[in-house]
Amino acid sequence: MKFIGIVGTNSTASTNRKLLLFMKKHFAEQAEIEVAEIADFPAFNEPSDQKAPAGIQELSEKIEAADGVIIATPEYDHSIPAVLKSLIEWLSYTTRPLINKPVLIVGASHGSLGTSRAQTHLRQILNAPELKALMMPGVEFLLGQSLQAFDEDNNLLYPDKVSELEELFSEFRLFVTINQKLVEEGHYNTEEQKKFSWEQSEGGTLS
Ligand SMILES: Cc1cc2nc3c(=O)[nH]c(=O)nc-3n(C[C@H](O)[C@H](O)[C@H](O)COP(=O)(O)O)c2cc1C
Repeated sequence: MKFIGIVGTNSTASTNRKLLLFMKKHFAEQAEIEVAEIADFPAFNEPSDQKAPAGIQELSEKIEAADGVIIATPEYDHSIPAVLKSLIEWLSYTTRPLINKPVLIVGASHGSLGTSRAQTHLRQILNAPELKALMMPGVEFLLGQSLQAFDEDNNLLYPDKVSELEELFSEFRLFVTINQKLVEEGHYNTEEQKKFSWEQSEGGTLS
């Protein structure tokens, strides 16, 4: 399986980046995880040609081709960082590669709550009709005290959290496999769903 791991911040010292780099290494025999940076992307500005800048277009194509996406989000002011929201707006307004794409949300915070409020927001955002990502219900990976959580080689030092992550990753791979089967059997109409337009809809349903 191939996953794209999105570092949901432009902070150079991010512990969420460390978490994704740990996952890439720790799960290397089970999946390929490509860690993607979003720091250099411009803020979303609703261009009239509905085209994303080249780097975002490239990331969108990688998401389209991947079996799933892992988003590691920090928590800023009880929500996700603006740079992550901006990327999501670009994807929503242009190519919509997250529609029916399995997404695993994880998060690391310096305090004890492990980004629980940011993750709740992110789930709500990814449920928008232009995003419509497939998220496993009832699953959270919250890493608190993240400044002390990694060594210099990005190894996660909390054994209970490593076990939790292993269980979660195994569930996510199963979730991806089940969804691939649903896609093969034609249960999703992704191309039709990509045509969603707020101008022609009421309350977020296709017209
Ligand atoms: C502008 C700003 C707002 C923050 N807001 C929160 C917050 O609401 N909740 C929280 O737990 N940490 C907050 N933090 C602290 C950490 O940045 C946060 O724990 C983050 O998840 C750490 O992620 P990182 O190591 O990947 O940068 C905030 C930090 C900044 C700079």
